[in-house]
Amino acid sequence: MLLSEKIISAFKNNYIGDPELFIASGRINMIGEHTDYNDGFVMPTAIDKHFVFAIAKNESDIFSINALDLNEKISFSRNEIKPGHSWQNYLMGVIDGFIRRGKIPGGVNCAFSSNIPVGAGLSSSAALDSGFGFALNELFGLGLSRLDLAKIAQEAEHNFVGAKVGIMDMYASLFSKKDSVMLLDCRNYKHEYRPLKFEHHEILLVDTKVKHSLASSAYNKRREACEEGVKKLQQHFENVKALRDVSLAMLEKIKSEVNEEVYKRCPYVVQEIKRTENAAALLQANDVTGFGKVMYETHWGLSKLYEVSCDESDWLVRLAEQNQVTGARQMGGGFGGCTINLIQKDQQESFVAKVREKYFGEFKKEADFYWVKLADGVHEFLRS
Ligand code: GLA
Repeated sequence: MLLSEKIISAFKNNYIGDPELFIASGRINMIGEHTDYNDGFVMPTAIDKHFVFAIAKNESDIFSINALDLNEKISFSRNEIKPGHSWQNYLMGVIDGFIRRGKIPGGVNCAFSSNIPVGAGLSSSAALDSGFGFALNELFGLGLSRLDLAKIAQEAEHNFVGAKVGIMDMYASLFSKKDSVMLLDCRNYKHEYRPLKFEHHEILLVDTKVKHSLASSAYNKRREACEEGVKKLQQHFENVKALRDVSLAMLEKIKSEVNEEVYKRCPYVVQEIKRTENAAALLQANDVTGFGKVMYETHWGLSKLYEVSCDESDWLVRLAEQNQVTGARQMGGGFGGCTINLIQKDQQESFVAKVREKYFGEFKKEADFYWVKLADGVHEFLRS
């Protein structure tokens, strides 16, 4: 049964009336990792793995929400909103963001489900908070822009979940356009779409099955190290607002004044911001080989300087390198999740076979494979 049909039927089993349907996708990121909270560039887009929400007003101030995949149902009123338990935080955080802006949504009945693998670095959480926010905005005609909704989703993760994430994931979930990636400047929230169509290549995700947890302190610690670097740089250089404004030469200048951790993290970010601009130019020039090379550079920067990789991701990227896969790197926040591979069409089968053959022996777990199709950002799903 289609996900949408399953959700409509679950909605009807639980509530009276006819729901509206909304779809919110997970995302990939071609390049630009850990640059978003440093005012840098990223290159994400939405994919064909998504949440579907069936949702309807219920003429009260009660939010009755049914998370089908978890078999959990909760109900709370508008004045009971506070940080609490797991996935509810994402939704309560979104409602809180609306209320703080004086945009008061009424109560809803809602059932949702998703086929985005959780913890695989595909931003299921951003799809959840962006999709829910979008649905509330539409249902109650609250007039918030997609950018407002991205900021609300980000605040929900900061304030209710405790993950100090950047804007990339929710922005991608809200603004993506099918068949394109976007080059997003996280300093001014301006984006350009770039068509992503390769003649001889595909995008293949390999799921390490190492579950990462963004709320874990490691992500927040990376962000703190960047902020510490910026504070030190500001003592020497005017006009530094973020690592976006910094060069490697400037970092050399503060070397003796910061600890080793800060000194490792900052150069990665400075290089990655440049790499992403460079990669955008390569994509424009249709230089797939050049683009792939830059992906590998990102990976080894993530692994050695930013230290957010893991043995499984390093192993998969090394295997890709050894097999002349055009480009590969760990994607997303890190500590596992998926590697993203820019792979020649005629090489996929043999590469997948090699991973299948060896990964289990190395790590005692099976890797998963997702062939990526690009998708539109959050939208209402119109039933025919
Ligand atoms: C996670 C965060 C994003 C971004 C990436 C790393 O996905 O949610 O904001 O920082 O990690 O690029």
